[in-house]
Amino acid sequence: MEFCDLKKQYNAYQSEIDPAIQSVIQKTAFIHGEEIGLLEEELANYVGVKHALTCSSGTDALLLALMALDLQPGEEVICPAFSFIATASMIRLLSGTPVFVDISAVDFNIAVDRIEEKITARTKAILPVSMFGQCADFDPINALAKKYGLWVIEDGAQSFGASYFGKKSCSMTHLATTSFFPAKPLGCYGDGGAIFTNNDDLAEKIRVLRNHGQVARYQHKVIGINGRLDTIQAAVLRVKLKHLDEELAARKKWAQLYQQLLPAELLLPEVCENRESVWAQFTIGLADRDAVRQYLQEKGIPTAVHYPVPLPYQEAFGDLFDPGETFEVSSLLADTVLSLPMHAFLTEEEIRYVAQTITDYFTHEA
Ligand SMILES: Cc1ncc(COP(=O)(O)O)c(C=O)c1O
Repeated sequence: MEFCDLKKQYNAYQSEIDPAIQSVIQKTAFIHGEEIGLLEEELANYVGVKHALTCSSGTDALLLALMALDLQPGEEVICPAFSFIATASMIRLLSGTPVFVDISAVDFNIAVDRIEEKITARTKAILPVSMFGQCADFDPINALAKKYGLWVIEDGAQSFGASYFGKKSCSMTHLATTSFFPAKPLGCYGDGGAIFTNNDDLAEKIRVLRNHGQVARYQHKVIGINGRLDTIQAAVLRVKLKHLDEELAARKKWAQLYQQLLPAELLLPEVCENRESVWAQFTIGLADRDAVRQYLQEKGIPTAVHYPVPLPYQEAFGDLFDPGETFEVSSLLADTVLSLPMHAFLTEEEIRYVAQTITDYFTHEA
């Protein structure tokens, strides 16, 4: 059993993916090929925004979004204490200050009622993550941002395709980013990412920033990066985007089966009303996580820990460390979370085997 079975996925779409890649090679349009523009149009339509701008990774998408907002040294960006490093490291890379807020134990997203107390005169933006595939609670976040004149960026690296009150992830904020890392709900065959916005000025800025700050050939107006997506990756993504909704339906089915079969004493993920998760991860919480993980490994079940260290406790943010501040929910999750196999190509037998093995563990241990 695979944690995320990309081989099965490739076998299912091989007859479409191989010619799509071959066509880019035949045209040798490896950079700025026509698939980039076509994919951007399809992504924008799927999400329901004016502009989708592809780029080299979900990390660079965050960097470009923050550069487009002209984040200055010392300016603060509010983000969750529990996420992948890139959410906060890109703020720091620009010499901004990530201001960490604990997460909610219900949806594992930024605790909305803890944001306002962190807003200062230096706050520039709020950067919520839509964790494990479920959107953060954007209505109150956007209301708060409006009250204080702040920007909002959704880190939708794990939530492409999810929805919130019928609106798609990456459509509800000034800027939003996603990742096309191979194991993501929509993944390519290497690194890739995208930025979404309805704002024409920000879109234009990002277009320039992702291509060395170039406005005409060898005319560089601002300092930018080489943040482009490769055409071959765009060709792969165009095929996979066509199958995304079927895959999301399968992920939902497997998540519901896990919820039905797993022992109720575990902390099971909850999807809030009016939200649809894409189940980027199916992550449970359990006290003896490491022992269960070892037991599952012995039974041939791969698992992962997303994430073992809350962001404020990462050495990279050591200079920001405040010993008086605690992040209870983030710390609890870091000690207890375990992600189970999740992808569209699982079988009912596999889900039943995982659930039964976990149940057996608890029966023997009890
Ligand atoms: C929440 C979050 N933000 C950002 C990223 C960075 O994306 P990438 O790996 O494409 O750079 C990831 C990737 O795992 C992520 O999970």
